[in-house]
Amino acid sequence: AAPTQYQAENATISNGLVESNHAGFTGSGFVNYDNEVGSSVEFTVTSPSAGQATLTFRFANGTTANRPMDISVNGSLAADELSFPGTGAWTTWQTRTTTVSLNAGTNTIKTVATTSNGGPNLDRVDVEPPSGPPDTVA
Ligand code: GCU
Repeated sequence: AAPTQYQAENATISNGLVESNHAGFTGSGFVNYDNEVGSSVEFTVTSPSAGQATLTFRFANGTTANRPMDISVNGSLAADELSFPGTGAWTTWQTRTTTVSLNAGTNTIKTVATTSNGGPNLDRVDVEPPSGPPDTVA
């Protein structure tokens, strides 16, 4: 199945702001995490089935310092301090991919800054749902 896009500006933001002053984002803007440990964006996503899903975060980091974030799924840590390195400019957007386990139905994916720099600017996450069983040969 094709990935589903979830815009950060439509997610639940804690200690961050929706902004649009750096070109190249999709949707209506991006989230600028407050420059502190614990600033976060939580997405609510649906999956047609349980299993391994691929998350692709689209972000920009105009500094030279990594801005790692903990990625929790349904309240459990799924990726510890996932790196979001510098992209060269706030208008240069790149992707960071990780694989997590989702339940069938509704899931929460929370991204939490782990350094005093806060998170990167986050545009969106694309969720590629778990692949179904292999096709049966007729
Ligand atoms: C700059 C930039 C913001 C960014 C911030 C940061 O202010 O314009 O988009 O979020 O730096 O360092 O987090």
